[in-house]
Amino acid sequence: MLQEEGARERRKSILLVDDLVTNIKLLARYLQEYKLYFALDGDTALAVAEENQPDMILLDVMMPDIDGYELCRLFKENPRTKKIPVIFVTAKNNQDDEELGLQVGAIDFITKPVNGAILRARIANNLELKEHRDNLAGLLAAKSKELDGTYEQLLHAEKLSSLGKLSSSISHEFASPLFGMEQILTTFHDEEPVADKKHMLAVCIGECQRLRELIRSLHNLGRPTSSHMGPTDLNQIISDVLHLCGKTFEKKNILIEKNLQQIPLVQAIEDQMKQVVFNLIFNACDAMAEGGGRFFIATSVAKEQIVLTVTDNGCGIAPADMQAVFAPFFTTKQQTGGTGLGLSICYGIVTTHKGTIEVRSTPGVGSTFTVRIPALEAK
Ligand SMILES: Nc1ncnc2c1ncn2[C@@H]1O[C@H](COP(=O)(O)OP(=O)(O)OP(=O)(O)O)[C@@H](O)[C@H]1O
Ligand SMILES: [Mg+2]
Repeated sequence: MLQEEGARERRKSILLVDDLVTNIKLLARYLQEYKLYFALDGDTALAVAEENQPDMILLDVMMPDIDGYELCRLFKENPRTKKIPVIFVTAKNNQDDEELGLQVGAIDFITKPVNGAILRARIANNLELKEHRDNLAGLLAAKSKELDGTYEQLLHAEKLSSLGKLSSSISHEFASPLFGMEQILTTFHDEEPVADKKHMLAVCIGECQRLRELIRSLHNLGRPTSSHMGPTDLNQIISDVLHLCGKTFEKKNILIEKNLQQIPLVQAIEDQMKQVVFNLIFNACDAMAEGGGRFFIATSVAKEQIVLTVTDNGCGIAPADMQAVFAPFFTTKQQTGGTGLGLSICYGIVTTHKGTIEVRSTPGVGSTFTVRIPALEAK
């Protein structure tokens, strides 16, 4: 039953428009394999075409209320019917009429008396053409959507890469004057006996240190990937990083869970991969409330890629911020001095390693960052 309905649905449909019932009956006899709609006047034809969206319209030229050319024009002006191919079926057979018919948007012209075999062949050809055109239009729409997405990604990558170049020159220019000022302030601080000024100097030195940190991050962002690229064990990197931070997490009551599966090596710059892992787990910890929390770090292989996930049960990311988190300088940690560069650095590193990074998050529940890097070899 269902199959029957499916087959019926796929049957092509044709609207026959003629003021004479006998003509319609004649055409209908030749076109039994199609689902047919009928109209004896222009208004009905327009309404039926709009509502039923037939695959084709066969149109008589001479009708009392409205002639076929005018009706064809109306079909072509109406956004709901303009894509339906129209074929004129008429007793007229001079070239001017044919030309006029094609000008108003018809795709073919069949003269009466109609030869059944020719009528069927022409309809079948034109329906096939329409199907190809519709398929192409669908394909084009899908491709253009795909291209839009790629363009957005390119723009984002371009933005990051120019920021990278800019930031490495900024960091270079800023580093030496800042170092000089910090030295002078430190000397005054150590020598100056007046307590309130000492406090001011301490604040200045603190600010210098904050700037130095910012410059260091900026420098990392723009650092060319010329450092040594080689076979790298991501599991080893994770273990090293966790070993380094273990004590800090313990103090903050943060529980670490891990599931590091046996994975192939990746072709990578080791310290940059370390930086990605650092950034992700520090973000995970930052997202947790004062009382601590839990994060889960895992590696696995899927489709010849190494998959690294870092999941936390922290505050999560507001839907409005999801697009922004990878953008340079986006931070919600103004109070604790976040630079907003961590994730954009991760993004830059991962893309230069021909990988991807994405995030899923539910506010109040937690976030998962997923990094995929091509595996170097199958294990
Ligand atoms: N695991 C996470 N949970 C919730 N929010 C996150 C998480 N990771 C990142 N974010 C959000 O993305 C923002 C940007 O992160 P990013 O690492 O780029 O900078 P930051 O952490 O704010 O600053 P910095 O890395 O210098 O400490 C964060 O401020 C935070 O709002
Ligand atoms: Mg961060």
